[in-house]
Amino acid sequence: MTTVSEKQIPLLDLQAQHKQIRDEVLAEIVRVVDSQKFILGEEVQKFESEIAGYCQAKYAIGCASGSDALSLALMALDIRPGDEVLTTPYTFFATGGAISRLGAVPVFADVDEHTFNLDANRMKKALASHAKIRAIIPVHLFGACADMDPICAMANERGIAVIEDAAQSIGSEYRNRRAGSIGRIGCFSFFPSKNLGGYGDGGMLTTNDAALSERMAALRVHGRTGKYFHQWVGINSRLDALQAAILRVKFRYLDDWTAGRQRNAHRYRNIFAKLSIPVTPEATTEYQTRHVYNQFVIRCSERDSLQAHLKKQGIGSEVYYPLPLHLQPCFSDLGYKKGDFPVSEKLAAESLALPVHSELAADDIDYICESIRSFYACGSARS
Ligand SMILES: Cc1ncc(COP(=O)(O)O)c(C=O)c1O
Repeated sequence: MTTVSEKQIPLLDLQAQHKQIRDEVLAEIVRVVDSQKFILGEEVQKFESEIAGYCQAKYAIGCASGSDALSLALMALDIRPGDEVLTTPYTFFATGGAISRLGAVPVFADVDEHTFNLDANRMKKALASHAKIRAIIPVHLFGACADMDPICAMANERGIAVIEDAAQSIGSEYRNRRAGSIGRIGCFSFFPSKNLGGYGDGGMLTTNDAALSERMAALRVHGRTGKYFHQWVGINSRLDALQAAILRVKFRYLDDWTAGRQRNAHRYRNIFAKLSIPVTPEATTEYQTRHVYNQFVIRCSERDSLQAHLKKQGIGSEVYYPLPLHLQPCFSDLGYKKGDFPVSEKLAAESLALPVHSELAADDIDYICESIRSFYACGSARS
């Protein structure tokens, strides 16, 4: 007989978050509906300037999703069929998908085992062996920036652009510089599970380059630069006024929520160290001056059994990501095979995201840690 734990701790608790802001959000929804102005417009412009300021970027351009932000960034840089774009295989599918959709070719370099992000030495090798790489997309995975100095140095040397996939990392900092302000273009997602999540899809581009900003703003409306005048072939990827209004309410809470995530991650790290629990959280680095913990991810060799054990204790967890991009069926024509990126493959087998959202109570974390400890304590009984 399976026993169901009385305690239930979901990986993410959007209901609890919504309760805090329900009245404010509903008032904004009514205001926008009454205005009958739904697409782009003033509401989106206000949100764009708030996000530009927050991300230390001169310009921000709203669009329909983080995936579209990546596509628009590549289009704005004139990435064409046959061009190569270097990125990580250990990411959400959209990073590689955006490259392929333009007919360009994703070239992967393996990640660092301790930070889960692109490894500079491995990138160097990939750059040396691929002549057609025209852009690099580092992903700031789980809320932590990739090691941007060596990445930007390599890109500069080669004369190519860096697009930051900051979908999971709004507000995170690399050497006190905000994600999205370090490369040529930053891409953000407002998917509901993100630290700043909408009530539907949404995305944003950031840049310090005026010409690129104008081009991306045109590309999101079919490349339009004047009424019924199209300078380029773009796409329809506009941010809704309703989403912008909701996101502006949530934006006011973002730093408090981020502080909650940081507090929770800190508590996990302390307890793991104190109780010598044999799981490895992502390494801290001196360049990571602000980690925003979209996810708190540990590595453990018995990941699947641990996840099943936590489930029995009522604890939600998730595997990000079980299959690296180079092994996805849709990329089989790229010619990669198992073993090509051993670190990403190892992380895919060992990583587990634990609840870290700001609504968690300290004793929830204690309970989760105790559940992990008990899993290892009865290890001999399991084997
Ligand atoms: C790393 C990364 N890139 C891109 C995206 C795509 O964002 P969206 O879901 O808003 O299209 C996501 C969203 O999950 C992501 O995590």
